Amino acid sequence: MYVEMKDICKTFDGFQASDHVSFGIEKGQMAALLGPSGSGKTTILRMLAGLDRPDSGDIMINGFRVNDLPGNKRGIGFVFQNYALFRYMTVADNIGFGLEVQKKSKAEIKERVEELLELISMEDLGKRYPHQLSGGQKQRVAFARALAPGPGLLLLDEPFAAIDAKVRRELRNWLRDMIGRVGITSIFVTHDQEEAMEVANQVIIINQGKIEQIGTPEEICFHPKTEFVADFIETERFSQGGK
Ligand SMILES: Nc1ncnc2c1ncn2[C@@H]1O[C@H](COP(=O)(O)OP(=O)(O)O)[C@@H](O)[C@H]1O
Ligand SMILES: [Mg+2]
Repeated sequence: MYVEMKDICKTFDGFQASDHVSFGIEKGQMAALLGPSGSGKTTILRMLAGLDRPDSGDIMINGFRVNDLPGNKRGIGFVFQNYALFRYMTVADNIGFGLEVQKKSKAEIKERVEELLELISMEDLGKRYPHQLSGGQKQRVAFARALAPGPGLLLLDEPFAAIDAKVRRELRNWLRDMIGRVGITSIFVTHDQEEAMEVANQVIIINQGKIEQIGTPEEICFHPKTEFVADFIETERFSQGGK
């Protein structure tokens, strides 16, 4: 397992946001963390990223317990819905930011930024500023920025929530292909079951801070283990036009 959450509990002012959460993700896998709003998805990502501390339980990354390791030492990249680009920096400078922080040489930064611009098919847009980009392009830049320092784990928290439905579908396919190509272990948070099923090869369903089921998209769809999972998948299907 590349990532393991072992019996994690977290409360906020007596409210249990994570209730004995355990799951593991193999290296190179793309897992979706799926659940309704308020179910505790962001809390899990924040603990993995070192932005919050669990009350109990162990967080393991690449075989090491990282509970006491600062977030910037964990080798994690993240793309959050509201993790805006730096407005006064060009696309290229946004992508190179993490490398600047690491004090890499100018030449090395330039080379890596060019490689990433090519990866996201934005070779000619390096000199633009964020306000000159579409929503989808901004999220592609956010993705490249997260990958630039070469993290071992990529966390994405509802990265397409603010983008309209059609572009969202395109981006979702794009993201799946990109992650497959880069081969990075990833956790993709969403409350949209269709998005989870399409993007991930492992789906982790969470409700009220508890893991309800972990399985492939097929297992979740055809063999829901709890009433909640069955209901959640059904309700979502109906709300999307009864497919
Ligand atoms: N810093 C915090 N202080 C108090 N309550 C919080 C805090 N962060 C999250 N919560 C609560 O924990 C629950 C889970 O939140 P969150 O992990 O953001 O859910 P999700 O991302 O699934 O929508 C929510 O009820 C939320 O109000
Ligand atoms: Mg959230």
